[in-house]
Amino acid sequence: MDRIRITGGAELNGTIPISGAKNAALPLMIASLLTGEALELRNVPRLADVGLLLRILGNHGVDHTVTGKRPGQTAETGQTIRLGASSVIDTTAPYELVAKMRASFWVIAPLVARFGEAKVSLPGGCAIGTRPVDLLLMALTRLGVEVAIDAGYVIAKAPKGLKGAEIDFPKVTVSGTHVAVMAATLAEGQTIIENAAREPEIVDLCDCLVKMGARITGAGTRRIVVDGVARLHGAVHTVLPDRIETGTYAMAVAMTGGDVLLENTRADLLPSALDVLRQAGAEIIPERDGFRVRRNGGGLRPVDVVTDPYPGFPTDLQAQFMALMTRAGGTSRIRETIFENRFMHVQVLARLGAQIRLDGDAALVEGVERLTGAPVMATDLRASVSLVIAGLVAEGDTEIHRVYHLDRGFEALEAKLSRCGARIERISG
Ligand code: UD1
Repeated sequence: MDRIRITGGAELNGTIPISGAKNAALPLMIASLLTGEALELRNVPRLADVGLLLRILGNHGVDHTVTGKRPGQTAETGQTIRLGASSVIDTTAPYELVAKMRASFWVIAPLVARFGEAKVSLPGGCAIGTRPVDLLLMALTRLGVEVAIDAGYVIAKAPKGLKGAEIDFPKVTVSGTHVAVMAATLAEGQTIIENAAREPEIVDLCDCLVKMGARITGAGTRRIVVDGVARLHGAVHTVLPDRIETGTYAMAVAMTGGDVLLENTRADLLPSALDVLRQAGAEIIPERDGFRVRRNGGGLRPVDVVTDPYPGFPTDLQAQFMALMTRAGGTSRIRETIFENRFMHVQVLARLGAQIRLDGDAALVEGVERLTGAPVMATDLRASVSLVIAGLVAEGDTEIHRVYHLDRGFEALEAKLSRCGARIERISG
């Protein structure tokens, strides 16, 4: 299995192009099941999860073509994928496929909305907490879907179609909001989604659905209103920039020092994370097609952080920020409120010399003078990239095993970092 070796100590300087957002690309690809016409998605990142979802959609009968590069495009320009769900042959999503990626469970919404039935395995995915699907099923039930669970599968039936309804989420859920919106687009009448997630990826999905003929207002607010239509049509949509990848590289630069332009991205996608980085001592300088992150000279200051739904500090940047705080001049407190059990990186960071104490849903990080390289094992997607950030400043070599976690979410990570001066390489086999 591949591993990544980092020799710490180099500053980062240069330009890092940001890819399309994984967490938008996945629901957008799933939305292709809502229509028999072609959905063309641009700026899709080249990631293992995208490839896996193509296989899952292919199993339902969705055709896809990946178009070649156009003149002037570089290796960083995301791929264009055309998806066509004109002849869906199977409304079952099997365990072997769904278990590998939790988000693939969301196919249940377009399948039952368009075909009146779906049989989808209960999901797997990153081992962070229990991650139930009760709220997704509640949303579907509100829309008139009959839901039963049998031998590890959710069987959803709506022979007479879906009916608009009010869906009030007791807690903010990205997956629940995606599922509710997708299903409601083809329901008869109006659906009102209260306490909806406001993540930019929800807005991106709704933008695309509107291009496909859906009638949606309020995306990006707590209340989304969907007026159902009889059918949707094809569209062309460009996936928005990945705010988690953006924040991850911003933290890497804050960690090593230097000056890096993050391009093809937007600072307004991660307001709280950039605010926290400024407090920690990094400069954020807006540029035409992104922003620069700079830290020259001064040390890192400790900052307390609490993860929250958007626009709060993202849980998907919590591990990376913790890595950064291991080198701050003082103690910071990081509270995780979205997922239980999302502190698996703590023990691994400790192998590099980090001083972190867990206290319920919080971690107290005491900054240390130096980290030292060591062999470490990646535990999940975001945790594994926190090890990269720590490795960039650790003395000596850090070797990260199980990098398939990284490949699920970070496109061309070694290439992007090494072009800015990091000493990082992938060792195959
Ligand atoms: C998405 C993101 C993930 C991110 C998370 C929170 C994708 C592909 N994944 O995950 O990277 O970390 O948002 O920003 O977009 N919950 C329930 N019942 C449910 C559904 C969720 O209790 O039916 C709970 C979860 O266990 C969790 C919280 O709600 O504690 C938030 O989960 P949710 O927002 O749905 O996360 P995901 O959509 O799975």
